[in-house]
Amino acid sequence: MSESVLGIDIGGTGIKGAVIDLQTGALLTKKIKYKTPAVSTPDAVLKIIRNLLHDFSWEGKPLGIGFPAIIKNGVAKSAANVDKSWKGFDIQSFLSQELEVPTTVVNDADAAGMAEFRFGSANNMKGTVLLLTLGTGIGSALFRDGRLVPNVEMGHLKWLDSIAEDYASNRARKRDGLDWPQFGGRLNEILNHISFLMSPDMIIIGGGISKNFEFYEPYIDIDATVVPAMLKNEAGIIGAAIYSSF
Ligand code: BGC
Repeated sequence: MSESVLGIDIGGTGIKGAVIDLQTGALLTKKIKYKTPAVSTPDAVLKIIRNLLHDFSWEGKPLGIGFPAIIKNGVAKSAANVDKSWKGFDIQSFLSQELEVPTTVVNDADAAGMAEFRFGSANNMKGTVLLLTLGTGIGSALFRDGRLVPNVEMGHLKWLDSIAEDYASNRARKRDGLDWPQFGGRLNEILNHISFLMSPDMIIIGGGISKNFEFYEPYIDIDATVVPAMLKNEAGIIGAAIYSSF
């Protein structure tokens, strides 16, 4: 088995990658980020992945992909913040064939959750642990005594006249020009609802906004421990890489 894998985190806004040490979760290279193409079709995203392989001189070597959709056996079953042509698309076969290397694909939030569980804030925690990534959408990874329940979609919980990610994602914060108290208040409403539905012991806040945790933490008041993701926005890359070794 390889000691290191290129992890690539495909998001609605950015596509980033780094080479990851599978034993420690450490980044062995700097992180490189590209903008997600405005029309994010499979071919357009493939081009960016090829750029990353070239940047890291990683042609022909193993890679793991985190993708922002429900993923079953390498096939995308949804396409919320990416081009609709991904829905029903076999990402794993497509990339493995095009790039001529075995490629694994996992939901981006599940990837981040696995990284936090192995190396970060949830390190081997028992009980019910939920990681929420707040970015373009809201991703979620649910663990019970360390076992992942894949493809939980808390961001798509019906909320007001829309869904949760339309109300309390980082994109919603920017779109609506929310200050930290306003954003913290919205997040608190969502967390309370989720907490009532599944009684988590711990909620981990991930995504780019995890680095600003101290600003909205004062507005969160729920009956569970709430902590920021230790691996911050790198959790997705690390998790995508380690998933390839499972
Ligand atoms: C998608 C999830 C994804 C999340 C974060 C949601 O819109 O449905 O699968 O994990 O965004 O990218």
